[in-house]
Amino acid sequence: MAQSVFDSSEVILNKGVTLWFTGLPSSGKSTLARMLERQLRKWGVRVELLDGDVVRTHLSKGLGFSKEDRETNVKRIGFVCHLLTRNGVAAIASAVSPYREPRDYNRRMIGQFVEIFVKTPLEECEKRDVKGLYKKARAGEIQGFTGVDDPYEEPLNPEIVCETSSETPEQSAEKILKRLEALGYLKFS
Ligand code: ADX
Repeated sequence: MAQSVFDSSEVILNKGVTLWFTGLPSSGKSTLARMLERQLRKWGVRVELLDGDVVRTHLSKGLGFSKEDRETNVKRIGFVCHLLTRNGVAAIASAVSPYREPRDYNRRMIGQFVEIFVKTPLEECEKRDVKGLYKKARAGEIQGFTGVDDPYEEPLNPEIVCETSSETPEQSAEKILKRLEALGYLKFS
Protein backbone atom coordinates (compact mmCIF):
# COMPACT_ATOMS: atom_id res chain seq x y z
CA MET A 1 0.00 0.00 0.00
CA ALA A 2 1.22 3.50 -0.77
CA GLN A 3 2.78 5.33 2.12
CA SER A 4 0.36 7.75 3.78
CA VAL A 5 1.49 11.18 4.97
CA PHE A 6 -0.10 10.24 8.30
CA ASP A 7 2.80 7.78 8.78
CA SER A 8 5.38 10.56 8.66
CA SER A 9 7.35 10.79 11.87
CA GLU A 10 8.62 14.30 11.37
CA VAL A 11 6.66 17.23 10.02
CA ILE A 12 7.84 20.79 9.79
CA LEU A 13 5.74 23.88 9.19
CA ASN A 14 7.96 26.08 7.01
CA LYS A 15 5.94 29.25 7.53
CA GLY A 16 2.68 30.39 9.03
CA VAL A 17 -0.49 29.71 7.13
CA THR A 18 -4.23 30.18 7.40
CA LEU A 19 -6.36 27.21 6.40
CA TRP A 20 -9.78 28.63 5.72
CA PHE A 21 -12.63 26.10 5.64
CA THR A 22 -15.81 27.36 4.00
CA GLY A 23 -19.02 25.52 3.18
CA LEU A 24 -22.69 25.09 3.96
CA PRO A 25 -23.84 24.26 7.51
CA SER A 26 -23.35 20.51 8.15
CA SER A 27 -20.98 20.21 5.18
CA GLY A 28 -18.23 18.76 7.38
CA LYS A 29 -15.99 21.79 7.97
CA SER A 30 -15.58 21.33 11.70
CA THR A 31 -14.93 17.58 11.40
CA LEU A 32 -12.10 18.17 8.95
CA ALA A 33 -10.75 21.20 10.79
CA ARG A 34 -10.61 19.30 14.08
CA MET A 35 -9.02 16.26 12.46
CA LEU A 36 -6.31 18.42 10.93
CA GLU A 37 -5.76 20.31 14.17
CA ARG A 38 -5.32 17.07 16.11
CA GLN A 39 -2.93 15.60 13.57
CA LEU A 40 -0.77 18.70 13.22
CA ARG A 41 -0.56 19.08 16.99
CA LYS A 42 0.51 15.46 17.31
CA TRP A 43 3.42 16.30 15.01
CA GLY A 44 4.32 19.28 17.21
CA VAL A 45 3.16 21.93 14.76
CA ARG A 46 1.90 25.10 16.43
CA VAL A 47 -1.75 25.26 15.50
CA GLU A 48 -4.86 27.17 16.54
CA LEU A 49 -8.44 26.44 15.56
CA LEU A 50 -11.03 29.20 15.20
CA ASP A 51 -14.46 27.68 14.81
CA GLY A 52 -17.40 29.94 13.90
CA ASP A 53 -19.63 28.44 16.56
CA VAL A 54 -17.01 28.99 19.28
CA VAL A 55 -15.94 32.43 18.05
CA ARG A 56 -19.57 33.52 18.23
CA THR A 57 -19.59 32.86 21.99
CA HIS A 58 -16.56 35.12 22.56
CA LEU A 59 -14.97 37.35 19.91
CA SER A 60 -18.21 37.73 17.94
CA LYS A 61 -20.66 37.50 20.82
CA GLY A 62 -23.80 39.45 20.03
CA LEU A 63 -23.49 39.20 16.26
CA GLY A 64 -26.35 37.65 14.33
CA PHE A 65 -26.65 36.29 10.81
CA SER A 66 -27.42 39.37 8.72
CA LYS A 67 -25.11 39.93 5.77
CA GLU A 68 -23.35 42.68 7.69
CA ASP A 69 -22.90 40.66 10.89
CA ARG A 70 -21.60 37.64 8.98
CA GLU A 71 -19.13 39.89 7.21
CA THR A 72 -17.95 41.31 10.54
CA ASN A 73 -17.65 37.82 11.99
CA VAL A 74 -15.62 36.53 9.05
CA LYS A 75 -13.32 39.55 9.04
CA ARG A 76 -12.74 39.29 12.79
CA ILE A 77 -11.78 35.65 12.43
CA GLY A 78 -9.57 36.69 9.52
CA PHE A 79 -7.83 39.32 11.63
CA VAL A 80 -6.95 36.80 14.34
CA CYS A 81 -5.75 34.37 11.67
CA HIS A 82 -3.59 37.18 10.27
CA LEU A 83 -1.92 37.72 13.66
CA LEU A 84 -1.33 34.01 14.16
CA THR A 85 -0.08 33.41 10.63
CA ARG A 86 2.50 36.17 10.77
CA ASN A 87 3.80 34.56 13.98
CA GLY A 88 4.45 31.26 12.26
CA VAL A 89 1.32 29.43 13.41
CA ALA A 90 -1.03 27.23 11.38
CA ALA A 91 -4.35 29.02 11.92
CA ILE A 92 -7.37 26.96 11.02
CA ALA A 93 -10.66 28.76 10.48
CA SER A 94 -13.94 26.94 10.16
CA ALA A 95 -16.91 29.15 9.36
CA VAL A 96 -19.75 29.03 6.86
CA SER A 97 -18.33 32.33 5.50
CA PRO A 98 -20.95 32.44 2.76
CA TYR A 99 -19.84 35.65 1.03
CA ARG A 100 -16.96 35.74 -1.41
CA GLU A 101 -15.87 39.32 -0.74
CA PRO A 102 -14.95 38.95 2.97
CA ARG A 103 -13.15 35.65 2.25
CA ASP A 104 -11.14 37.37 -0.51
CA TYR A 105 -10.50 40.31 1.80
CA ASN A 106 -8.98 37.91 4.31
CA ARG A 107 -6.93 36.27 1.58
CA ARG A 108 -5.47 39.65 0.59
CA MET A 109 -4.79 40.65 4.22
CA ILE A 110 -3.20 37.36 5.23
CA GLY A 111 -1.32 36.40 2.07
CA GLN A 112 -0.35 32.93 3.25
CA PHE A 113 -3.91 31.72 2.82
CA VAL A 114 -5.28 28.37 1.71
CA GLU A 115 -9.00 28.22 0.99
CA ILE A 116 -10.60 24.83 1.46
CA PHE A 117 -14.06 24.51 -0.03
CA VAL A 118 -16.00 21.77 1.71
CA LYS A 119 -18.24 20.95 -1.20
CA THR A 120 -21.12 18.89 0.05
CA PRO A 121 -24.43 18.97 -1.85
CA LEU A 122 -27.20 20.82 -0.04
CA GLU A 123 -29.36 17.65 0.03
CA GLU A 124 -26.57 15.79 1.83
CA CYS A 125 -26.03 18.64 4.34
CA GLU A 126 -29.75 18.73 4.95
CA LYS A 127 -29.87 14.98 5.48
CA ARG A 128 -27.05 15.22 8.04
CA ASP A 129 -28.59 18.28 9.72
CA VAL A 130 -26.15 17.99 12.62
CA LYS A 131 -27.91 20.59 14.77
CA GLY A 132 -31.46 20.21 13.43
CA LEU A 133 -31.35 23.75 12.04
CA TYR A 134 -32.27 22.91 8.42
CA LYS A 135 -35.46 21.38 9.72
CA LYS A 136 -36.22 24.53 11.68
CA ALA A 137 -35.40 26.72 8.67
CA ARG A 138 -37.72 24.65 6.43
CA ALA A 139 -40.43 24.98 9.06
CA GLY A 140 -39.98 28.76 9.02
CA GLU A 141 -38.73 28.83 12.61
CA ILE A 142 -35.38 30.31 11.50
CA GLN A 143 -35.10 32.96 8.81
CA GLY A 144 -32.07 33.62 6.67
CA PHE A 145 -30.52 30.19 7.01
CA THR A 146 -27.61 29.57 4.63
CA GLY A 147 -28.62 27.23 1.82
CA VAL A 148 -32.33 27.54 2.53
CA ASP A 149 -33.24 31.21 2.29
CA ASP A 150 -29.82 32.84 2.44
CA PRO A 151 -27.09 32.64 -0.22
CA TYR A 152 -23.87 30.67 -0.27
CA GLU A 153 -21.31 31.96 -2.76
CA GLU A 154 -18.98 29.14 -3.77
CA PRO A 155 -15.27 29.96 -3.95
CA LEU A 156 -14.11 30.54 -7.53
CA ASN A 157 -10.49 29.46 -7.06
CA PRO A 158 -10.10 27.47 -3.85
CA GLU A 159 -6.73 25.78 -3.34
CA ILE A 160 -8.51 22.62 -2.20
CA VAL A 161 -11.98 21.14 -2.73
CA CYS A 162 -13.18 18.37 -0.41
CA GLU A 163 -16.15 16.40 -1.71
CA THR A 164 -17.27 14.90 1.55
CA SER A 165 -20.09 12.85 0.03
CA SER A 166 -17.58 10.78 -1.96
CA GLU A 167 -14.42 11.01 0.21
CA THR A 168 -13.86 9.80 3.76
CA PRO A 169 -12.69 12.45 6.25
CA GLU A 170 -9.28 10.70 6.26
CA GLN A 171 -9.04 10.98 2.48
CA SER A 172 -9.95 14.67 2.60
CA ALA A 173 -7.42 15.31 5.39
CA GLU A 174 -4.69 13.51 3.46
CA LYS A 175 -5.50 15.54 0.36
CA ILE A 176 -5.19 18.75 2.36
CA LEU A 177 -1.86 17.73 3.90
CA LYS A 178 -0.40 16.78 0.52
CA ARG A 179 -1.51 20.06 -0.99
CA LEU A 180 0.08 21.94 1.91
CA GLU A 181 3.30 20.11 1.15
CA ALA A 182 3.04 20.96 -2.57
CA LEU A 183 2.42 24.62 -1.70
CA GLY A 184 5.58 24.64 0.42
CA TYR A 185 3.97 25.03 3.84
CA LEU A 186 4.69 21.56 5.21
CA LYS A 187 7.69 19.29 4.92
CA PHE A 188 7.27 15.58 5.63
CA SER A 189 10.06 13.15 6.41
S1 ADX B 1 -20.95 32.84 9.26
O1 ADX B 1 -22.00 32.96 8.20
O2 ADX B 1 -20.82 34.05 10.06
O3 ADX B 1 -19.66 32.41 8.70
P1 ADX B 1 -20.68 30.86 11.36
O4 ADX B 1 -19.84 29.81 10.74
O5 ADX B 1 -20.03 31.81 12.30
O6 ADX B 1 -21.48 31.65 10.19
O7 ADX B 1 -21.89 30.18 12.13
C1 ADX B 1 -22.66 29.24 11.47
C2 ADX B 1 -23.34 28.31 12.48
O8 ADX B 1 -24.33 29.02 13.18
C3 ADX B 1 -24.02 27.19 11.77
O9 ADX B 1 -23.23 26.02 11.81
C4 ADX B 1 -25.29 26.99 12.53
O10 ADX B 1 -25.07 26.05 13.55
C5 ADX B 1 -25.54 28.31 13.23
N1 ADX B 1 -26.59 29.15 12.61
C6 ADX B 1 -27.59 29.72 13.28
N2 ADX B 1 -28.35 30.48 12.47
C7 ADX B 1 -27.82 30.38 11.23
C8 ADX B 1 -28.16 30.94 9.98
N3 ADX B 1 -29.21 31.74 9.82
N4 ADX B 1 -27.39 30.62 8.89
C9 ADX B 1 -26.34 29.81 9.06
N5 ADX B 1 -25.96 29.25 10.22
C10 ADX B 1 -26.69 29.54 11.31
